Amino acid sequence: MKTTVKEQLDALLKHADRVRSAGTLSLFAREPDRLDRLCHEVAGVRVDLSKQLVDDQALSQLVAAAQAAGVNNARQAMRAGAHINQTEQRAALHVALRAHEDFPVSSEVSEVLSRMDALCARVIQGVATGARGHAFTDVVNIGIGGSHLGPQLVCEALGNRDSSGPRVHFLANVDGGDCADLFARLAPQTTLFVIASKSFTTSETQLNARSARAWLTSAGIADRELQKHFIAVTARPDRAQAFGIASENIYPMWDWVGGRFSLWSAIGLPVALHLGMNTFRALLSGGAAMDAHFFDAPLEANLPVLMALVSLWNGYHLGAGSYAVVPYDNRLRSLPDYLQQLEMESNGKSVSFDNTPLECDSALVTWGGLGTNAQHAFFQLLHQGTRFIPVDFVVALTHPAGREDHHDALVANCFAQAEALMIGRRFTPEPADNNGIELWRHRESPGNRPSSMISMQALTPSSLGALLALYEHKTFVQSVLWNINAFDQWGVELGKELADSILVELQGAAGGASSRDPSTDALIRAYRKARAG
Ligand code: F6P
Repeated sequence: MKTTVKEQLDALLKHADRVRSAGTLSLFAREPDRLDRLCHEVAGVRVDLSKQLVDDQALSQLVAAAQAAGVNNARQAMRAGAHINQTEQRAALHVALRAHEDFPVSSEVSEVLSRMDALCARVIQGVATGARGHAFTDVVNIGIGGSHLGPQLVCEALGNRDSSGPRVHFLANVDGGDCADLFARLAPQTTLFVIASKSFTTSETQLNARSARAWLTSAGIADRELQKHFIAVTARPDRAQAFGIASENIYPMWDWVGGRFSLWSAIGLPVALHLGMNTFRALLSGGAAMDAHFFDAPLEANLPVLMALVSLWNGYHLGAGSYAVVPYDNRLRSLPDYLQQLEMESNGKSVSFDNTPLECDSALVTWGGLGTNAQHAFFQLLHQGTRFIPVDFVVALTHPAGREDHHDALVANCFAQAEALMIGRRFTPEPADNNGIELWRHRESPGNRPSSMISMQALTPSSLGALLALYEHKTFVQSVLWNINAFDQWGVELGKELADSILVELQGAAGGASSRDPSTDALIRAYRKARAG
């Protein structure tokens, strides 16, 4: 974090104590226009920040800190395609995938979209067929992380729309049980695999892809016919070809698209195959509408910027270590997982661009679960626990299922939880019972636990696109505030390398000198013994 930014933030620490003791309800009383100022709607997504424990004065100083941190320049640098991913010397131009006409990479993006159009039409109409001439009934996306979470989230979120395309399945985990369960439900002759991997080296994806190939082969599909069952999306077409995928079945990615920002590229093929290109394009246009707002709106009225600042305030000034994302919509059940990768892989860093260790914490831990189920699981801790955990509630005001009684109940619960967290509950003190318990103390909830209410009139391809782009830009703005790189992920490398070498030991011949720590050596020995039976 730049010194000037840190100084500005530190100057607010005492004020934060005052805001905390004043409480949110008194802020509503003190700031008559609070709701108007803290409620913004962009591209079908309305964000109400008024239940956050932040006041007008703090917010304007936080905006000043964002200016000092260079958020203005940073957003323009992103838009201009500058190499903002400095540790890898790359642009982060995922925005160009959503409104490609405005960017120099337009022709590459538009060519891929045309190829996706053609592929989807051929698959959906049954023109593209498997080895024995059968139309595809099922698509399996083999990919992990950014090559999995976004497409799965969108397919689940929009999957109840009229889908003329094949069913879609996701194989991410290297756990052989997943693979076995899925293959048992599918027919090889009617299954199309999409191998989604920017690097085309990710070990989980590679093993699952090899298992898929073996499954097809064991069903009698000859090597020369296998190509009909495989598509790849990758920035390394050479590796996909070496695997045996025909060059005309390979869809490119580019180094200027990070894995966790890649839903909008051909990584979104499962969405397009399942729900059609019109849906996919509407998703892109919703994202583009949020981009236009992010790039052009003044910082004080800029939704991603405000969300980033409120989150920074919750962590830096009020001491939160995590925040919970709670969608009140079963269709958004994978949103917490998706946001975990987006926010924690992007901003889980501790060295700033000036090569020095950060002097404050970076990303909050992102976690969460589905409302109303979460109310009967972890909400007790949110209401009465010792930790301070802000919440993002996400809800659609209408639901296509048509069961209004259910939707009324769902939404009532969502609004009630946000209100309860804010207002808390006090009881009149009463004497202890015969067991010495002063029950009123156990029943009290402190309140002043902040939340944001993110609502959409309806969950549509466009509003979903805007919602996801909103969180992407929030993540980017936070990285600028901390002066860290949101677009690399060096921290995942060590685990991958160690897994490769441990795998060799697990599968290799017995013996050899122990080269690891005693704990890991013992685990390896135990596994080898168990494997040997
Ligand atoms: O290990 C982390 C990661 O590199 C993510 O950033 C990425 O989304 C995921 O692995 C999958 O990578 P790939 O698309 O190259 O298989």
